[in-house]
Amino acid sequence: MKDVTISDSIVYIGADDKTIDLFESQYVVPNGVSYNSYLILDDKIAIMDTVDPRATEEWFANLEKALDGKTPDYLIVSHMEPDHAGNIQAVAEKYPEMKIVGNAKTFPMMAQFFDMDLSDRKVVVKEGETLELGNHALQFFMAPLVHWPEVMVAYEQSEKILFSADGFGKFGALDTEEDWACEARRYYFNIVGKYGAQVQALLKKASGLDIQMICPLHGPILKENLGYYIGLYDTWSSYKPESEGIFIAYASIHGNTAKAAKKLKEILEAKGAPKVSIADLARDDMAEAIEDAFRYDRVVCCCATYDGGMFPCMEDFLAHLKAKNYQKRKMGFMENGSWGPVAAKKMKAVVETMKDITIVDPVVTIRSTMNDANIQTMEELADALLA
Ligand code: FEO
Repeated sequence: MKDVTISDSIVYIGADDKTIDLFESQYVVPNGVSYNSYLILDDKIAIMDTVDPRATEEWFANLEKALDGKTPDYLIVSHMEPDHAGNIQAVAEKYPEMKIVGNAKTFPMMAQFFDMDLSDRKVVVKEGETLELGNHALQFFMAPLVHWPEVMVAYEQSEKILFSADGFGKFGALDTEEDWACEARRYYFNIVGKYGAQVQALLKKASGLDIQMICPLHGPILKENLGYYIGLYDTWSSYKPESEGIFIAYASIHGNTAKAAKKLKEILEAKGAPKVSIADLARDDMAEAIEDAFRYDRVVCCCATYDGGMFPCMEDFLAHLKAKNYQKRKMGFMENGSWGPVAAKKMKAVVETMKDITIVDPVVTIRSTMNDANIQTMEELADALLA
């Protein structure tokens, strides 16, 4: 378990989930995921979010241990998605005196998820308002669409801690030793990626605060070198490439398009490309392919023609990129087709609807298997990508 010590009066009470098959029913999480929750003990006691129903038992045990016989005064609800809000009704029923703190958008959503009367228990906070707990005070900032409309973050003023909701979250249980950026990047682009402008707005608000620690709802508590994490979030949310390099995504039926994609990788590397990453869209993790497309400044899509269109995994890949507001990159294309190749035309048609994408020519058109002329065109495409 990573160090989850926060301070004498703020305790981690979240739980790891290492048995979930797919997070949000779509993301593989080889090292699980954590549902973070915190308890602030002061004159008034505040619970900072609950956890997913998958971790109910462990969370209640952690909560009761940390409370040590006391009762909580407030439940702060920063996000209504069930991986955090799943136990609101259960904890509200267990502690009937406890007030529930949210904003104007929180409570209508709460009524959709739960059947309980909170009319005399709800505390509705607005932008910049503060909730005094004693020595501690929570100041709330709205963070709409990071990642749902009702999201708000809380800044604890005495210890200078930002409770950042999904922001700065990461896949991976807390006992996982792995690079933060890799799984935080995959999490960010797939889950929050569409809302770069809203993340930028939150970063702007955060820049006015003296933050010494970030407590997200997933992944490790960030205590040092905060500029590194905030800098990555600034890059990601402004849709700037993080690394120089070329990502080759291929969608191949019988392996001939795959062979050509790998040949292009070889050619690019021989020409001194800074970094070339490649993915088989039919078999590799789609979420990682999305991550790599955002990470690098250049992408080449290689696709077999299928049913007069793209092979479906390429269609899926481009649809994901479009949904996540993909922009500001250079893109090249390679297509294959034993008769009537149209994949490049179809891929370009999607990409042309994205913002600020530079299409790099020439298009490589393969008829079943690559030949010398195709390799010559790949050389030209590689030169144009590296120019
Ligand atoms: Fe971790 Fe948007 O919930």
